[in-house]
Amino acid sequence: MTHANEPLILGIESSCDDTSAAVIRGPQVLSNVVANQALHSEVGGVVPEWASRAHLEKIHPVVQAALDKAVVKAHELDAVAYTLGPGLQGSLHVGTSFAKAFAWALGVPSIPVHHMRAHVLAHVLEPEPSPAYPFLCLTVSGGHTQLVKVNAPGDMEVLGQTLDDAAGEAFDKVAKLMGLPYPGGPIVDRLAQKGDPEAFAFSRPRMEGFNWSFSGLKTQVLHFLKREQAADPTFVERRKADICASVQAAILDMLCAPLMDAVIQLGIQEVAIAGGVSANSGLRVRLAGLAETHGWNVYVPPFAYCTDNAAMVAAVGWLDFRDGLQGSLGAAPSPRLPQLRSLAVSEEV
Ligand code: KG4
Ligand code: ZN
Repeated sequence: MTHANEPLILGIESSCDDTSAAVIRGPQVLSNVVANQALHSEVGGVVPEWASRAHLEKIHPVVQAALDKAVVKAHELDAVAYTLGPGLQGSLHVGTSFAKAFAWALGVPSIPVHHMRAHVLAHVLEPEPSPAYPFLCLTVSGGHTQLVKVNAPGDMEVLGQTLDDAAGEAFDKVAKLMGLPYPGGPIVDRLAQKGDPEAFAFSRPRMEGFNWSFSGLKTQVLHFLKREQAADPTFVERRKADICASVQAAILDMLCAPLMDAVIQLGIQEVAIAGGVSANSGLRVRLAGLAETHGWNVYVPPFAYCTDNAAMVAAVGWLDFRDGLQGSLGAAPSPRLPQLRSLAVSEEV
């Protein structure tokens, strides 16, 4: 389909440790450039100060690369969308300042975007089919785990969320306990494919409503590994695939329980997943199984739109721009933005 009449939107994402820029025309992604910051892997987690410095170095070349790849000149852009929060304060400052200055210089609106809303709305991007409204979205990332009822792009209700660690954090922390580099999620996923998910039993605590708690699992794994390593110092090395498969099975069981309840209670069978952990192959297989057994329509974003990326930020920018919304040049980044809503307003203030 041609989108010649749709606006051209530049998206900028810098909330954590990925510097990303993308150009979209309506739902069509023309470019989506992501520069990962490998420097954090050696210390087992994101160092906020390093992250903001790296964003500063990368943001201009990444934006230029996104424009070049899309074969778009800056003056052709209709708006610049950027992540205002939640995320790391210093990292957000870099993307926010760059985006607002760029938009101001071009004389186009700047559109602040809620990072978690962007993960959900990655589903409007082509080429995958989009879920019909209302749909349920399980957003699972390194910082958040949320079950969201999406009534419309601008109307989302958080039905439940994690009370402590996020699902991605659980993956990363377990990986760290096993001596694996950061981010551990993709490595646990890869090792789990060769292991036995029933090799070791970890409990799957269930919270009230549609909420989760993952911190207990990390503590369980910590004590388990200490005990086993004391008896046999080669235990982790010998059994790493089985440990990963067993931990992953527990995390996936815990993630899916409230989702299954929500589908039944709300009678909504349009089910989407989003966020970095939606790249997990076990979760994808699990959802395909649920779709087949229960007749759900399951929507899984392409890998490139699961982990942090600017195409999803541009997608929100496009939808808000289409609704006549825009941000103010005074918009300040916010590490915590509890409400999942549009951050743009109907006219410049
Ligand atoms: O959405 P995202 O890129 O950044 C945040 O907004 O947090 O998510 C990053 C998280 C990390 O915790 C990473 O370990 C996890 O997503 N992740 C995975 C996989 N790929 C990324 N977790 C499990 N399996 C994967 N394949
Ligand atoms: Zn994210």
